[in-house]
Amino acid sequence: MTFIRPRTALETMLAGISRAAEAPAPTRHEAVMAAIGDALAKPELLEGIDCPCCPDRYVRHLLHADAAGRYAVVALVWRPGQMSPVHGHRTWCAFGVHRGVLTETYYVAGDPPQPSATRLLAPGGVGGGPADPALIHRLANLSCRTAISIHCYGVAFDRFGEDVNEVHSA
Ligand SMILES: [Fe+2]
Repeated sequence: MTFIRPRTALETMLAGISRAAEAPAPTRHEAVMAAIGDALAKPELLEGIDCPCCPDRYVRHLLHADAAGRYAVVALVWRPGQMSPVHGHRTWCAFGVHRGVLTETYYVAGDPPQPSATRLLAPGGVGGGPADPALIHRLANLSCRTAISIHCYGVAFDRFGEDVNEVHSA
């Protein structure tokens, strides 16, 4: 007799992301945002996965690296007060909040970039965009609780350091 183990919430999300990543480039980030959004509200999404935080900066934990190197999926853990740099993206990206609340600020390009709008992202809230370094934003945990978000970027994980963010001083 063969027992088939049901997919975990994480496996279901990763399968959805894999399908969505096949979408044509102009809408790929939107398809991946939808796939992530479907999973964010499930409390068990990261069950059994160790996602420690760090007192000095937000931390990235690899959840999945596409075998063909097309994208990778990470969980980011943000302690209160931690934030990303002000940055644009050299690759498409999609993300969403799983736990806690993040503040996303948009900027108009300039030297330095100028903030133009802000929104709060509660669990289930998603964002993302095509590869366009002129689309500038910052994510921050301005709340009093640790937050966790799920991010997918359209490059292999070992290229995250150089090929994802174009950082601005602001
Ligand atoms: Fe970003």
